[in-house]
Amino acid sequence: SPEGLHADALLAWYDRHRRRLPWRALPGEKPDPYRVWLSEIMLQQTTVKTVGPYFQAFLTRWPTVDAMAESDEEDILKAWAGLGYYSRARNLHACARFVSARLDGRFPDTVEGLRQLPGIGAYTAAAVAAIAFDRRAAVVDGNVERVVTRLEALETPLPQAKPRIAEIVDGMTPADRPGDFAQGMMDLGATICTPKRPACGLCPYLPFCRARREGTQETFPRKAPK
Ligand code: ADE
Repeated sequence: SPEGLHADALLAWYDRHRRRLPWRALPGEKPDPYRVWLSEIMLQQTTVKTVGPYFQAFLTRWPTVDAMAESDEEDILKAWAGLGYYSRARNLHACARFVSARLDGRFPDTVEGLRQLPGIGAYTAAAVAAIAFDRRAAVVDGNVERVVTRLEALETPLPQAKPRIAEIVDGMTPADRPGDFAQGMMDLGATICTPKRPACGLCPYLPFCRARREGTQETFPRKAPK
């Protein structure tokens, strides 16, 4: 399918229904890469609701990547207490030091550049490149996997389907506003295309959704037996 097919529908929906999240820039404002990076690291294994107060506390205490770089790892670990997966906190500190000392406090603005940083894997690099720098990168989390497998009624089970899903998301991503597209897909999965009882009547992709057309939306994504 051509690049960005049906993306207009998703973007129009996002303009009206986007979630107001503490790390998001206000409409029309430039996102802060430091905030985007910090939020994506926190959100890796933790819910949006839990992350909120931690994110605010971190930002108050360390408003910039340079401020975080000057802290001791131990202070980061203490402030992280309760979020779990403490290697994330250690990587946070290492990454802040790297960006501050070696990159003059500026995050790389490409997927390839971001991948070089401590603690930044494929998902985080794509998310930061798209959201902070409006790069055309395929951002695929669990929410997006659900949206896409339903749209295409994809029978291949997870995790086997992951490369195909990334390919489909890449094809869906528009050249214009790829960052809003990425966040719109996450919001759609979180608020409309939910695991149980998705609100298909409110979905901007309703006319294009194969699973819904067949009445099988709740059966996707397929999962490989354990
Ligand atoms: N989950 C991971 N990244 C997110 C983001 N930027 N917005 C909302 N949910 C997310």
